Amino acid sequence: MSVERTLCIIKPNAVEDCNIGKIITRYEEEALKIAATRFAKLSKEKAEGFYIEHKSRPFFGSLIAFMTSGPVLIMVLEGENAVEKNREIMGATNPAEAAENTLRKLYAKSLEANAVHGSDSLTSAEREISYFFEKNEIISTH
Ligand code: CMP
Repeated sequence: MSVERTLCIIKPNAVEDCNIGKIITRYEEEALKIAATRFAKLSKEKAEGFYIEHKSRPFFGSLIAFMTSGPVLIMVLEGENAVEKNREIMGATNPAEAAENTLRKLYAKSLEANAVHGSDSLTSAEREISYFFEKNEIISTH
């Protein structure tokens, strides 16, 4: 295993429900440290660019409307095996299928309002991190 970085977004429903603190605590307990963070309300253009791979999917318009409906907390998380570890901590995309005690099981409202986004591979993580953060905004924790 090696130290990796992954992108995490705490989505509008989890911000609205005041679950930011609990989500960050969980990451810290699991040895994923914040290497960069920003609180933001995404523009339509920024959200569309981020989710560009889903552009042709039927849920795209609704996904963008949701992701721009309120503020989000964007973070670079750093730690051993960070990409896969975050995916385990988040649980399945659909909260109905998420394992007990995963973030989505605990804090999601629906498939769309599923509390958190996490990069699905190292390649995605590199693209997603550079989509939101300049190199000099990322502070290594290791
Ligand atoms: P996320 O990990 O942020 O990546 C794309 C998002 O699209 C996903 O989480 C879901 O919140 C949302 N979404 C909405 N409908 C679907 C669907 N049918 N399949 C997959 N993702 C969906």
